[in-house]
Amino acid sequence: MFQRQALCGAPYPGTNSATNMASSENKTARTLADLGVTQPTQVSALFLEVRTRFESDSLLARDESSWKHFRDAWLGRKSGVLTQITDHWLKTATPEMKRVVGAALNELRAHVESQIEERRKAIESGTQETAAARDRFDLSLPGVIRPLGSHHLIGQVFQQIEDIFFSIGFSVVEGPEIETPYYNFEALNIPEFHPVRDDMDTFYLDLPKGAAQPLLLRTHTSPMQIRTMEKRQPPVRVIVPGKVYRRDNPDATHSFIFHQVEGLAVDQDITFCDFTGTIEYFVKQFFGAGVKTRFRPSYFPFTEPSVEFDVSCIFCGGSGSAAGGGTCSKCKGSGWIELFGAGMVDPAVYGFVKYDAKKVSGFAFGMGIDRLAMLKYGIDDIQVFFQNDVRFLRQFP
Ligand code: PHE
Repeated sequence: MFQRQALCGAPYPGTNSATNMASSENKTARTLADLGVTQPTQVSALFLEVRTRFESDSLLARDESSWKHFRDAWLGRKSGVLTQITDHWLKTATPEMKRVVGAALNELRAHVESQIEERRKAIESGTQETAAARDRFDLSLPGVIRPLGSHHLIGQVFQQIEDIFFSIGFSVVEGPEIETPYYNFEALNIPEFHPVRDDMDTFYLDLPKGAAQPLLLRTHTSPMQIRTMEKRQPPVRVIVPGKVYRRDNPDATHSFIFHQVEGLAVDQDITFCDFTGTIEYFVKQFFGAGVKTRFRPSYFPFTEPSVEFDVSCIFCGGSGSAAGGGTCSKCKGSGWIELFGAGMVDPAVYGFVKYDAKKVSGFAFGMGIDRLAMLKYGIDDIQVFFQNDVRFLRQFP
């Protein structure tokens, strides 16, 4: 690098200007007399030095633009190395030295010119090679077909339900699957020793000693009633899709993980009529206009009154008898199928979220999505939702 700069005279890509030589060292910028070269043997040593630099320069010419710099540095008419040698060494040489310098210069020029041309060809064919490699991929061939998945049936049913409630002004909120007992129970008016906890008691997390409070997998989406009302003032109209967990043994209708959509509407003058009308609208949208709904009294600590909604049996059309005679096995001959629990929000709950129970009223519901999907699509085992056998999934593209 040091030497090369001295010889080329001009900065060149890849050189470091910090190593730029002082001009006194730039041999091609000086005359032979100046350099103390008086013997033919000294001339060949000097040309050998030039040639060595040329070889190492040529290694730096790796692509078109560095090759051009390389070529100009050596063959450039004004200040290329060969011109400098002609001007400073040849033209100023004594007559007998001129012969020696002339011969060496001719030889050098032939070498430089042929090598520079060689380099050009090599670079060009290298580019062609990469282009050829690129062309080896036949872009007109059809690609590898990767089977596209689809939404899980549960996801599809979530979407259907969301669409129905969107159409009547509800929005979607989501909440944590790991809850505190406060949100899962207490704020829903289920104090610690309330017997309904026995039905629901569930998976508590193993927490390190000294943890601030116990945590559990939520047993229902109802905690989001509380979290939503804590954050928003009425009017509130939300649905909450999500996973819930209970300590149930798996069978055709039970799973320790399942899905719910919670609903909550609270405003200043929401009546029981709004409540049943909303549910009826939903059920007809979801199952079809032909179905009927009914409600029966029920009990939940966070609704008052509480009800259980039923839908007329979608398998026997509500008649209670099977197509081929006998009783319908789905509704056991009653003509009705139990759908989900619901009710008017218990005023005690408003106390936990600092709503004025005298001014607001509302309703809530909690639907089991797996159950709704099983009814709508005639699936008789809840476990298929969790096994995810593609033969099942493919039936619901
Ligand atoms: N959270 C109740 C359950 O999981 C369902 C419910 C929700 C009932 C809202 C009334 C109101 O069983």
